[in-house]
Amino acid sequence: MKLVRTVAEVEASLLPAWQDGRAIGLVATMGAFHAGHRALMQAARAADEVVVVSLFVNPAQFGPTEDLVRYPRDEASDAEMAAAAGVDILFVPSVDEMYPPGFDTWIDPGQLGTELEGAVRPGHFRGVATVCARLFGMVRPQRAYFGRKDAQQVAVIKQVVRDLALPLAIAVCATVRDPDGLALSSRNAYLSADERRVALALPRALEAGLSAHRAGEDPEAALRAHLAAEPRLVVDYVATRDFDGPTLAAAIRVGGKRLIDNVQLD
Ligand code: PAJ
Repeated sequence: MKLVRTVAEVEASLLPAWQDGRAIGLVATMGAFHAGHRALMQAARAADEVVVVSLFVNPAQFGPTEDLVRYPRDEASDAEMAAAAGVDILFVPSVDEMYPPGFDTWIDPGQLGTELEGAVRPGHFRGVATVCARLFGMVRPQRAYFGRKDAQQVAVIKQVVRDLALPLAIAVCATVRDPDGLALSSRNAYLSADERRVALALPRALEAGLSAHRAGEDPEAALRAHLAAEPRLVVDYVATRDFDGPTLAAAIRVGGKRLIDNVQLD
């Protein structure tokens, strides 16, 4: 695996693949890799000839009071996991490389970017959309891989690709969970053991919502009822949306830490 830090190095590394028309798969990440990231890398490895993973904690998608500074970072162990997953190129740009002096063009995903996660985190999806579009331009992948864990992000990226007629396909991978059901997230590291037990109410409530839906009942009501039974959590939102298919989504806070999760309604 080659570790590169500049756009010039990415171009030099990918030039032969571009010239030969080899299929390139991109997995965009903010690092602190877990099995969810690994599943995306493995999906790319299975489908594409060249696998590029970007590792960039994108300041543009963090609000002023969010966790940018303390976001978990461990480049050495990330590089090990990426190499073990068969990644060809790990791209770890600096903030200056990603947003060089004079950078001043932003992609605003519109209405979709202002609701749910976008309402709680104003500007978040503008930052996500812009950095992803920039990565697509730098890497020129045939496919970019995203996790359904962040279902609204998938919908935003698909909208950007469609609206800007970007020449790539978006592949969506299933949410990877711990055996107890909690969706893997780099931010789970913030939870104490006790908070983690409280957080389990989220996947369980989503399962209850899905069961209610299958029984012809209101999934949102069942989800809310389950979350309400756990007094140590705060509900940010509960919603049903068409995010790459009908999706029941929720966000909660446990001890001030936010968790998001969703299930597809079949
Ligand atoms: P990050 O949170 O590092 O996630 C990188 C990718 O891994 C995203 O597509 C995310 O949906 C996926 N992922 C995270 N947890 C997952 C899980 N438990 N199962 C399956 N996939 C999972 O999402 C971002 O970074 C950023 O917003 C980014 C797209 C890189 C733009 O900066």
